[in-house]
Amino acid sequence: MCGIVGIIGKTPVAPQIVEALKRLEYRGYDSAGVATLEGGKLERRRAEGKLRNLETKLSQAPLSGIIGIGHTRWATHGKPNETNAHPHATDRLAVVHNGIIENFRELKTGLEAKGVAFETETDTEVVAQLVTYEMRQGRGPVEAVAVTLPRLRGAFALGFVFSGEDDLMIGARHGAPLAIGYGQGEMYLGSDALALAPFTDEVCYLEDGDWAVLCRTGADIHDETGRLVQRPRHKIQSAAFMADKGNFRHFMAKEIHEQPEVVGRTLAHYVNFSAGRVELPFALPFDFKDLKRISISACGTAYLAGLISKYWFERLARIPVEIDVASEFRYREAPLEPGSLALFVSQSGETADTLASLRYASAEKQHTLSVVNVPTSTMARESNVIAQTLAGVEVGVASTKAFTCQLTVLLTLAIAAGRARGTLSAEAEKELVDALIGVPGLLSEAMKREHQIEILSRELSKAQDVLYLGRGTSYPLALEGALKLKEISYIHAEGYAAGELKHGPIALIDETMPVIVIAPHDHIFEKTVSNMQEVAARGGRIVLITDEKGALETGLDTMATIVMPSAHPIIAPILHAVPIQLLAYHTAVFMGKDVDQPRNLAKSVTVE
Ligand code: F6R
Repeated sequence: MCGIVGIIGKTPVAPQIVEALKRLEYRGYDSAGVATLEGGKLERRRAEGKLRNLETKLSQAPLSGIIGIGHTRWATHGKPNETNAHPHATDRLAVVHNGIIENFRELKTGLEAKGVAFETETDTEVVAQLVTYEMRQGRGPVEAVAVTLPRLRGAFALGFVFSGEDDLMIGARHGAPLAIGYGQGEMYLGSDALALAPFTDEVCYLEDGDWAVLCRTGADIHDETGRLVQRPRHKIQSAAFMADKGNFRHFMAKEIHEQPEVVGRTLAHYVNFSAGRVELPFALPFDFKDLKRISISACGTAYLAGLISKYWFERLARIPVEIDVASEFRYREAPLEPGSLALFVSQSGETADTLASLRYASAEKQHTLSVVNVPTSTMARESNVIAQTLAGVEVGVASTKAFTCQLTVLLTLAIAAGRARGTLSAEAEKELVDALIGVPGLLSEAMKREHQIEILSRELSKAQDVLYLGRGTSYPLALEGALKLKEISYIHAEGYAAGELKHGPIALIDETMPVIVIAPHDHIFEKTVSNMQEVAARGGRIVLITDEKGALETGLDTMATIVMPSAHPIIAPILHAVPIQLLAYHTAVFMGKDVDQPRNLAKSVTVE
């Protein structure tokens, strides 16, 4: 979303910070800025647009401090102008921030009531003002940050420097990545190891909830309870920086954990958080209100993202949606009314069947819109409109972060369609946008179920067959759960619509059969509970993935209940993707499988 750098050095750090920011420019380039400590006082240089604008400013008015922070911005809250550029500062401190502070409005109102005046439209300034407020109450910088962090909701990373403190920097990580670099009498902070590559080859990746106090000789790392902890340091080869697994054993694990960050980044591209509305970052060559139908084609996990979006388009925008796996669509010679919308979903943008379907639809005079992750792909080039997912490079063959980013984009498209067709009021849109803003934070909260899921996966690894059940948008998610499990653990798994159980698959159920039920507490929750009763009555072992209310109301004995944070039902599939991904991942790891490169599969399927 944004890039963060911090350096406690021995010589002026601004040139090094700019060097590091160049390596982070892929994370955003709406504006950039640097703050360093000049004779005990914080000085900033900031500029709208690309880094070269900041470089010009620095060449005209150089900074000479030997401790400083820098930032390259992907605007979320507030316009991409100089006022809203980071670092944000008060007379006591400067701060850089990546991510979203969800509860910034509420915190801002509280501070304004205490007489604090704000200069910008950003959520970040709230953090600067909160810590400053605590310092004015007599707390030292470390304590002021420590009491502020638990008050912030959302997925974010932060870096602070303080007036009069030339040997102190604080970094904090909550859902967005942050790494510490160790030098010779110098210390570094960066959004990723790539940014720190020119300075050091020894890095430590903070874990979620960690915050670190850096000085020239090292760093004290605290976990979210404030306890001092040790985190492993890694030696990184420069060549490995681009494909770095961080603290994780596998790319798949890293990519699952990147979801709060990349979903937030994708959201920021499609949603105007301040205005509380969806703003698509491209012009459409058609009007949603003129459409009679949308046809969606995709393969595998991308197809299942499309299937979830069918529920959203039909419910929010009242447009009939037809969806096919692309390998069927391309040959079934579907009659398509000219001027309709054909929508394609693909991580790689190169999948042969999806591409062939796109070409068929173009020949049939459809408007073509592709949700793709690789903007230079063939599908991106050949579509009328590209809706890019900003998941970053996905290395693990099993798609995880691309899936949740596809869902994010598809939901914003459904909201935009609902507004255009008059089926979604401004108020209803605002409610959905508020729910969307909460997604990165909820995803980060969902990761906390990992330990429970890891233990459960040992049981699951003994199964020959596994059933996944769900209703509504949880039905495609059940299909995705089964797909994930079979492709990386090679355990046979099937997904079913929970209501279909008694039309056949129930015959399979006995005490050896784990049945994974995805059932957030929504309008069809009770129906799913009835289906669970049917499973329980036949000795099936239920793993229930639900939310707090659902867990309270089922009243059934389960093999395990994974309790997800409560969320607006419309965003539940994005959130509930996490436990099914983690379950497949840990089961496969426990079984010793090659999760990043499962047998017989390829990342990009360019043959039919
Ligand atoms: C499953 C998986 C595949 C892909 C499918 C489509 O984890 O990754 O099912 O989703 O091959 O690929 P893309 O999205 O590149 O078109």
